[in-house]
Amino acid sequence: MTSSSPMVLSLLLLLSLTALLLLAPRLSPPPPPVAVTAADKHEEEQVPAASARLSTSGLAGTGGVPSADEPDDLALFRRATLEAAAAAAPPKVAFLFLTTTDLHFAPLWERFFAGHESRRTVYVHADPSSRLNRLLITPSFRGRFVAAKPTRRADASLLAAARRLLAAALLDDPSNAYFAYIEVLTGEPQMPSRYAARGGEAAMLPEVPYARFRIGSQFFALARRHAALVVRERRLWRKFRAPCKPEARDHECYPEEHYFPTLLDMADPAGVARYTLTRVNWTGSVAGHPHTYAAAEVSPGLIRELRVSNNTHPYMFARKFAPECLAPLLDIADSVIFKD
Ligand SMILES: *[C@@H]1O[C@H](CO)[C@@H](O)[C@H](O)[C@H]1NC(C)=O
Ligand SMILES: *[C@@H]1O[C@H](CO)[C@@H](O)[C@H](O)[C@H]1NC(C)=O
Repeated sequence: MTSSSPMVLSLLLLLSLTALLLLAPRLSPPPPPVAVTAADKHEEEQVPAASARLSTSGLAGTGGVPSADEPDDLALFRRATLEAAAAAAPPKVAFLFLTTTDLHFAPLWERFFAGHESRRTVYVHADPSSRLNRLLITPSFRGRFVAAKPTRRADASLLAAARRLLAAALLDDPSNAYFAYIEVLTGEPQMPSRYAARGGEAAMLPEVPYARFRIGSQFFALARRHAALVVRERRLWRKFRAPCKPEARDHECYPEEHYFPTLLDMADPAGVARYTLTRVNWTGSVAGHPHTYAAAEVSPGLIRELRVSNNTHPYMFARKFAPECLAPLLDIADSVIFKD
């Protein structure tokens, strides 16, 4: 489960980009030719109307939560599907940011990207109503905003935005090989209520029986072939685009946590990793939001603790951190966070 808070940007990087590049191929098994893309989506930030838009997306930023796909989105997805096949070398990791607030941790991301500029691309989808503080837009993010539409928690607008980001990244650079990571889990205790929130069998059958319904993290990485699958896909998207039942909106409605893992687990069960690289502290969570670390909690010890995972790989990302954590995080960036 997870949710996006409108005010807190939350990703902390725990290892270097080099490590992510090394790790990415292992996260996405073999299949066909392709490469993978990693995106690290998420968060919240705004786009200044003034900021340059990537020409690849060429969309007008209008809309709301569409009851059907809008023609410009469909055209974008079609173009991206056509371009998706080739993955040029050397592979790059595409970082996809979905935001409704300022990118408070941009300086930390810059530190993470430093020295690897040729191996990463950045894309930002920022809610058009948000007013981005231009002073907080650091070089890696400048001119990297894709045409955006309104996003709201607890409906498919976040999902639509994620698909738009994937399409923009596919179109923009054939070297984009990794796009983030999808966690595919089953048997989580909240699954029955999440399925019910979508209208249960009456709404989800025949495409998505409960047994095929999956849950994952909002933070994910996709291989290029999987990103292509997502922008091409229409059948499940129709199901997940539909609104949740009204009574479930406040606490059980996170379609973006279900669409990607359900789709990929159906389409390529051997090609998905079944663990996450993002550590989230749900202890004492409030209204669907996990524990938000304050500046006083940031320390080398916390970073080390957050990395520990029961899986093969240590966690590379963590959420969520209040904006005030930037200074203490930068203080230990070189000595701890990005020291592999
Ligand atoms: C998780 O959050 C709780 C507060 O809700 C805190 O006491 C605990 O130390 C946190 N755990 C970690 C590993 O940071
Ligand atoms: C690892 O697994 C143990 C036992 O299931 C659990 O108590 C612990 O919280 C897990 N640690 C992490 C970091 O997920």
